[in-house]
Amino acid sequence: MKYDAQDCLLTAEYQLTPTIFDFRLKNDELASITRPGQFVHILIPGKTLRRPISVCDVENGEIRIVFEIRGEGTAVLAKCKTGSIINVIAPLGNGFETDKSVKTAFIGGGIGVPPMLYSAKNGGTGSVVINGFRDKSAVILSDDFRKTGLEVIETTDNGSYGIHGFVTDPLREIIAGMDRICACGPTPMLRNIAAIADEFNKPCFVSLEQRMACGIGACLGCAVAVKDGNGGIKYSHVCKDGPVFNSKEVEWNG
Ligand SMILES: Cc1cc2nc3c(=O)[nH]c(=O)nc-3n(C[C@H](O)[C@H](O)[C@H](O)COP(=O)(O)OP(=O)(O)OC[C@H]3O[C@@H](n4cnc5c(N)ncnc54)[C@H](O)[C@@H]3O)c2cc1C
Ligand code: FES
Repeated sequence: MKYDAQDCLLTAEYQLTPTIFDFRLKNDELASITRPGQFVHILIPGKTLRRPISVCDVENGEIRIVFEIRGEGTAVLAKCKTGSIINVIAPLGNGFETDKSVKTAFIGGGIGVPPMLYSAKNGGTGSVVINGFRDKSAVILSDDFRKTGLEVIETTDNGSYGIHGFVTDPLREIIAGMDRICACGPTPMLRNIAAIADEFNKPCFVSLEQRMACGIGACLGCAVAVKDGNGGIKYSHVCKDGPVFNSKEVEWNG
């Protein structure tokens, strides 16, 4: 596996909400080998450490990323304009397995919604998307998910858009008809989804977030506790062994 940094051309940038941005990064070679659920590690001008952002979609030789301003790094990135060169190490991580014959519940929560788009585009017939947001002002990518042709269910915590409640409510209603679950979002949401998957005996894969430094398994910066199979725990790298893990492996209390 080579981890060369490569330049991408920022061909378009859109603002989806006051704090969420949608960038298209042109690099035919990288786009051709990028799989759903992987991430790009972005060099931010003036910052030593790169910032990891998930692949939202891949189309026409472009990797699409959708990110929220959280701190200084993402604020600098959000200021980049069309024509800028964005340096990335990519594609990184294992990603979600895709199989057109598998009916999957694709679940995203908040800024965990974008990584599910490319996965959903590769989902089997009868798969269902469930996206959850804080409120109506935080809703993103509705049309993009509908274009996949899959059933799309949206929830908001306060009921200002879609179904009032959490993604786990509609999940309970559809899970019996699903072969597996793939999810990305806040840890409490993933923990609850994993518990429901266990209850219904369905395979469940979750994309975890951890602060990262190198992004390639060399620094131990992104360690996460996982079960070692003998009743104990061990540590895995989110960047290299993940970010997608079988939910049964994750030590949710770790
Ligand atoms: C594999 C992976 C994929 C990701 N995909 C996306 C994505 O598609 N879209 C998106 O908006 N964000 C994504 N993130 C989170 C993103 O990397 C962080 O928001 C970003 O690094 C923050 O950088 P900053 O310089 O703006 O903030 P900093 O100044 O570094 O931090 C600001 C705040 O963000 C928190 N933070 C920093 N890094 C992370 C992190 N990795 N996870 C959770 N909180 C963090 C800090 O604790 C702090 O509160 C992803 C993270 C990982 C590990
Ligand atoms: S970020 Fe360095 S090992 Fe994962």
